[in-house]
Amino acid sequence: MFFFMNTSELIVKKRDGGSLSPEEISHLIEGYVNGSIPDYQMAAFLMAVYFKGMTDEETLALTEEMIKSGDVLDLSAIEGIKADKHSTGGVGDKTSLVICPMLSALGIKMPKMSGRGLGHTGGTIDKLESFSGLKTDIDGDSFIKQANDVGFVIAGQTAKLVPADKKLYALRDVTATVDIMPLIVSSIMSKKLASGADIIVLDVKTGSGAFMKKQEDAFELARQMVRLGQNAGRKTVAVVSDMDEPLGYAVGNALEVKEAIEVLNGQGEEGLRKLCLMLGSCAVLEAGLAKTEAEALQMLEETIDNGSALAKLAQFVKAQGGDEKAVYDPSLLPKAAIVQKLFSPFEGYVQKLDADGIGRACIGLGAGRQTKDSVIDLSVGVVLHKKLGDYVEKNECLAEIHASSEEKAEQGKKQVLDCFGFSEKRPEGRDIIKGIVK
Ligand code: URA
Repeated sequence: MFFFMNTSELIVKKRDGGSLSPEEISHLIEGYVNGSIPDYQMAAFLMAVYFKGMTDEETLALTEEMIKSGDVLDLSAIEGIKADKHSTGGVGDKTSLVICPMLSALGIKMPKMSGRGLGHTGGTIDKLESFSGLKTDIDGDSFIKQANDVGFVIAGQTAKLVPADKKLYALRDVTATVDIMPLIVSSIMSKKLASGADIIVLDVKTGSGAFMKKQEDAFELARQMVRLGQNAGRKTVAVVSDMDEPLGYAVGNALEVKEAIEVLNGQGEEGLRKLCLMLGSCAVLEAGLAKTEAEALQMLEETIDNGSALAKLAQFVKAQGGDEKAVYDPSLLPKAAIVQKLFSPFEGYVQKLDADGIGRACIGLGAGRQTKDSVIDLSVGVVLHKKLGDYVEKNECLAEIHASSEEKAEQGKKQVLDCFGFSEKRPEGRDIIKGIVK
């Protein structure tokens, strides 16, 4: 029997706190993607979801329907265990550039789709383009071949992967319906599930520079995404991590690549290294390659100590057409014309280091996009010399500003200084890892 579904009745049902069936959700998503449901009705529905939420069953149905709107990657031709990692977005997040080489050195395949940066958070694809000649526009056959031959491949996300999310996200962005749990869960998880990996490791950020400012909200988001991934038959685990300050010292494309290489060389900032190892260990454990976290961490550390992770990065860069010499000599990466030091006019402990503000300063320098079509400068950005809890003497260097002109460097210095707050008292110690959800 054919039932005619009335869109406004479905909006009423959600507005009044009802739960929608998978068929009803399918009607809404299909209709919105094919244009038979207009923006104004979808906007009203999203706002109803904002106030009334969704059950786990509804969120799963919404995610499945979004996946159906586009292509689903078939990774069956890639041998072995396939893992993927996703971060909810943050400033200075270069973890993929460390994790993919480490895991592929251990035999876990990392066939990854990544995005470009928009707003104050950077994108892996932009960072990778710091390697001269490197291409991320890769056809399906080459993607599979490189995953098999090298162990990891990173391609730009195609428009065919979850087109429903593209359309819905653009509407959410202008209708104050972005920051609602079931819509974030379905948006992120539809893309991760459509990307086809067996293991999904999520890095859910919390703090002033994150989407989820409050820790309890980040844990709830992590729990919902993990539950959904597991219900969809994927091994899914989340690390909730700190984003009260930028991750590591470097923010800006080539500067972040250089810092990732430092970590693969056994150096780099402690928090960044710890987070990379923890995210990696989740994949190693889920893949069944280790029995305990300590064992998994040791295996990953070995890939750094014996140089196999760095060698994987070089192999990957070469396979994607880039200049792999820069992996061993980062001075070959793009360099800014001007590097100025910001000296502290104050003394005391750093008690605030606004990650969003540093991200905005980097956009001002040209490292990030204001709009989708902005052209970015891969060489510019900020290298912090002090982080939360560090003691600073008056006139000590707080940060280096890498800029294309003296004027931009001066402006950057002002903006970066505004991100710092100082106190006489030593702030409490902090851990970058807030917890694991599995
Ligand atoms: N990232 C996404 O991809 N979707 C959201 O809804 C939020 C963050």
